[in-house]
Amino acid sequence: MKTEFCIGLCFICFLSACKNKNLDKTTLPVKESIVNTYEEQYRPQYHFSPTEKWMNDPNGLVYNDGVYHLFYQFYPEDIVWGPMHWGHAVSRDMVSWEHRPIALFPDEKGYIFSGSAVVDKGNTSGYGTEDTAPLVAIFTYHNMEGEKAGNLDYQTQGIAYSLDNGDSWVKYAKNPVISNPGIKDFRDPKVFWHQESKSWVLVLVAGDHALIYNSTNLKDWELRSSFGKEVGAHGGVWECPDLFPLEVGKTGEKKWVLLISINPGAPNGGSGTQYFVGDFDGATFTSEQKEVKWIDWGTDNYAGVTYNNTPSDERIFIGWMSNWDYARDTPTKRWRSAMTLPRNLFLEKVDDSFTLFNYPLETLNSLRNPILSKDVSIGAKEEKVISLANFNQSEILFETAGRNFEMIFYNDLGDEQKFLFNQAKAELLLDRKSSGQTAFKDAFADKIHRMPLGDIPSGEIEIRILMDWSSVEIFVNRGQKVMTSQIFPREPYSRLRIKNTGDELLQLQSFTINTMQSIWH
Ligand code: FRU
Repeated sequence: MKTEFCIGLCFICFLSACKNKNLDKTTLPVKESIVNTYEEQYRPQYHFSPTEKWMNDPNGLVYNDGVYHLFYQFYPEDIVWGPMHWGHAVSRDMVSWEHRPIALFPDEKGYIFSGSAVVDKGNTSGYGTEDTAPLVAIFTYHNMEGEKAGNLDYQTQGIAYSLDNGDSWVKYAKNPVISNPGIKDFRDPKVFWHQESKSWVLVLVAGDHALIYNSTNLKDWELRSSFGKEVGAHGGVWECPDLFPLEVGKTGEKKWVLLISINPGAPNGGSGTQYFVGDFDGATFTSEQKEVKWIDWGTDNYAGVTYNNTPSDERIFIGWMSNWDYARDTPTKRWRSAMTLPRNLFLEKVDDSFTLFNYPLETLNSLRNPILSKDVSIGAKEEKVISLANFNQSEILFETAGRNFEMIFYNDLGDEQKFLFNQAKAELLLDRKSSGQTAFKDAFADKIHRMPLGDIPSGEIEIRILMDWSSVEIFVNRGQKVMTSQIFPREPYSRLRIKNTGDELLQLQSFTINTMQSIWH
């Protein structure tokens, strides 16, 4: 049996009705005509994307003087990858973003690849003034001539500083601060202050392992240790490391988490991010972890790293919402790709195994426009269809003890985005094979993506889905298991079919639909 209910709200002028969440526009350095273009097909309305052109990894995530900085790999001339710059945006609430001028430009030493930024509060670098602690960026120089010449040592690490909270930068005249010892892939430095040893720690990747350095002034670095040659996933090159402490639940126990992006070799193909949980003494990271762990089982969360210097203990993560398998081919025209929602990372022990949760920041909830909230029951083998003019800028949220059901978002053109929960197989399948435009690259929709759910506890758990025009993020049990996926429906999904594939009544408690306000309009 199929029942249908329609949410009787009119969504005409949906975008124009949205509350203006932008920061003060008078401070914007970009032309108004560029700011007002977030209306193209597939343009995310509550995720960060650049006004135009190509973007990849988040870089230099740091909080300073009231703002969260988001620098990012940026090529301002085209919508495909090219000579890398650091683009720049800032946010006060991690919900809305203000574009800032390009921060770092390529120079004779190379393109500016991924890296991090710190607030040098103790002025260890000597770049500060009496009343201003410098922001110091640590990045990889990628020298194209060196690469073309077939050398191995074309990636080195450089630094730059800013005294105006990130708007203008001066590169260190004596760059590089770490030269290349003859390792082809030698990049993506993440630096943080280690209070216990009163030193800066830098972790970078060197092909199939990570290297850890120490410094007292951000300029002179000493190699201390290496990690990972024999452990973890090695289906591709290691990239974009991050290393940070987290408390395990509320136990007071502290563990360190090492994030390592890997391309290819992710569980559902192409690029993905694995993590290790262990200990760190200021110089060496050790882990007893045997199995490979992934932060996200979708194909579109890569190169993610976390913020330095946040005002609270929060550990905030942002990833690049794409995959090197098809990033250059996705069907957007003016710009390419967006970031994941900022997410809090938590460490818990599940079945005696350290498990990293990731879940959107509370502040996102300020964008909610409530549409529906009610308990929904669906009989065995029955289904319900819910209509909404546009599911592609919405949030779906409910609690359920059910594990046998399907959720299929679809439109009148026959595009279908499917989520299939199966208890016997203890898995969630994400099927985007007929989700809309998929033909731009075989690797985009050549398989169904699988996420194991064996470690999800029985009983009521939350399922949360956030859709934003060309992306969908699903959080199972408040971020214990997550899938992030790009989608390109030819028109917005206007129906959601929920099918109970099990033999018992399926109960969805407080089944909630919120439309999400645009942060750009
Ligand atoms: C990850 C990555 C980094 C590199 C950057 C270049 O996506 O390959 O390793 O620094 O992108 O844009």
